[in-house]
Amino acid sequence: MADELKRTAAEAALSHVRNGMRIGLGTGSTAAHFVRALGRRVATGLEVVGVPTSEATAALAREAGIPLATLDDYPELDLVVDGADEIGPGLSLVKGGGAALLREKIVAYAAERMIVVADGSKLVDALGAFPLPIEIVPFGATATTLAVERAAIDCGLRCALDLRTRDGAPVVTDGGNWIVDASFGRIPDPEPLACRLSALPGVVEHGLFLDFADLALVAFPDGLKEIGA
Ligand code: A5P
Repeated sequence: MADELKRTAAEAALSHVRNGMRIGLGTGSTAAHFVRALGRRVATGLEVVGVPTSEATAALAREAGIPLATLDDYPELDLVVDGADEIGPGLSLVKGGGAALLREKIVAYAAERMIVVADGSKLVDALGAFPLPIEIVPFGATATTLAVERAAIDCGLRCALDLRTRDGAPVVTDGGNWIVDASFGRIPDPEPLACRLSALPGVVEHGLFLDFADLALVAFPDGLKEIGA
């Protein structure tokens, strides 16, 4: 059911795609539905160029027949379509559950418009129930983790931090970094936390996307909800 809703939301984003667009291609299971649907349009004559936000999405887009370019080929994009782990007030987002937050944020920043596609379970009153992914440099990871904890306390928050692992080894991102997942429970005011995290040496990027999304297409069993910024 959730996957069907993800597909509905992702396919609804197609109505915002125009011939000739340069489109950022998000990462994750919902964005993958968009990539496959876009590929079907390309097969019937739509002309677009895709800029993938991860190696996984690049592989999927190639398979779907979408012409690809890098962000250096096209540093200004018309649109990015991506998923989210949480969509909070004012279209604030938590992203990075798929470990692609760094490229996702760079691509989203380069895009004129960001459309978020998601099933209804992602819509929340306050961010933070989903652990916040924070991409850190492996060097000095323990010190950086401690600094993250202190930054949170300075913002009046407490968090439990977990280095993301797979098969007993740290997950390595496309950028060669590690991910620490920070469980806050609730982040009532994400702005100060985002600023503090961005200022920490060793933190490459964090999964708070504030003032990025222009539109969210959120699918519920009884229909699609469009939420503007
Ligand atoms: C990838 O790093 C994430 O930002 C994804 O966009 C997010 O985790 C949503 O993924 P799903 O669409 O698979 O839920």
